[in-house]
Amino acid sequence: MKKVEVRTGRPYDILIGHGIIADAGRYVREITNAVRAVIVSDSNVAPIYAGGVEASLKENGFETSLFVFEAGEERKRLSTIEQMYMFFFEHNITRSDIVIALGGGVTGDMAGFAAASYLRGIDFVQIPTSLLSQVDSSVGGKTGVDLPVGKNLVGAFWQPRVVLIDPDTLNTLPAKFFNDGMGEVIKYGCIRSRKLFERLEQENARDIIDDIIYECVSIKRDVVQNDERDTGERAILNFGHTFGHALEKLHSYSGITHGEAVGIGALMITELTEKKGITEKGASARIKALLEKNGMPVSTEFSLEEIITATRGDKKSSGKHLSFIFLNEIGSCFINKLKTDEIKNYFIS
Ligand SMILES: NC(=O)c1ccc[n+]([C@@H]2O[C@H](COP(=O)([O-])OP(=O)(O)OC[C@H]3O[C@@H](n4cnc5c(N)ncnc54)[C@H](O)[C@@H]3O)[C@@H](O)[C@H]2O)c1
Repeated sequence: MKKVEVRTGRPYDILIGHGIIADAGRYVREITNAVRAVIVSDSNVAPIYAGGVEASLKENGFETSLFVFEAGEERKRLSTIEQMYMFFFEHNITRSDIVIALGGGVTGDMAGFAAASYLRGIDFVQIPTSLLSQVDSSVGGKTGVDLPVGKNLVGAFWQPRVVLIDPDTLNTLPAKFFNDGMGEVIKYGCIRSRKLFERLEQENARDIIDDIIYECVSIKRDVVQNDERDTGERAILNFGHTFGHALEKLHSYSGITHGEAVGIGALMITELTEKKGITEKGASARIKALLEKNGMPVSTEFSLEEIITATRGDKKSSGKHLSFIFLNEIGSCFINKLKTDEIKNYFIS
């Protein structure tokens, strides 16, 4: 078992271990005296894992209940949160009880947001089951939902009490979503770890999955500890995301996954900065090869101009500026703010 300690306002541990999910109740009991534990999961994950988690919680003295929503980003809406609140109410969840997020990033973001806001905040635990959630979204305390006009526009910072990562759950994750998570893994290599990037080039990700998860959550931990509220350094986690989010928007959030969009976004921005002499030569070719190796798309039907236009209204925009993350080289990056009305000229000249 590996442990990563997160020292945010309220500190917590990330525990990584094969089979840890079967013991979830014991680890949850270590951090709470709650009487009730409400599991939140989606319609794909619940049939596989909720029974085991529920049994383990019961063994450790919790009264349990299970809220299941239909899987998919389309459900990451306030309407699902309202259903959750009602379920919590009907199951007598009090402020001293605990919410267990069991699933991918959609489940974690929503269960976390419901926990952050129900009764003005109750504890929650993350049990991430997708690669994306194990390497990224379960750590750092960003929770929330989408609005019809954009992703993650409503939410709260709310740190989990503990994160339990069981890499064995990835055995049931459809390949498409495994690849999708690899988009975020490649991002971590690009922004902070040349060593990780090189290992990904040389080896098969599934063979080194424990190391990948440990390395990614450690990087995220370091960044989040320095900037819990996302007012500075944390922006580097958005490498590839400005164009990525624009692409998701152009696709009306269907037909392209988050990881695929981020991968293409990372490649596009690096091709541009390499051309400008900002990024070391050859970086974009290496990113392209690594995306292809992991079954990710590397091109889009939308033009650069269309993508730049679609960055308007991006969450990362602050007034007249929009932040981009540029690589100096693989493994090292910096934040570059551009004036929104100069972005087109800056990149297309
Ligand atoms: N909070 C953050 O810091 C943060 C960071 C990055 C992404 N996100 C959010 O994460 C979401 C994407 O996460 P995701 O890709 O995990 O999406 P997801 O939760 O929809 O999971 C992807 C799919 O895999 C299924 N699944 C998950 N685990 C499984 C398993 N072990 N076996 C079988 N099926 C399984 C799910 O049912 C779903 O169909 C987006 O909404 C994104 O905005 C949040």
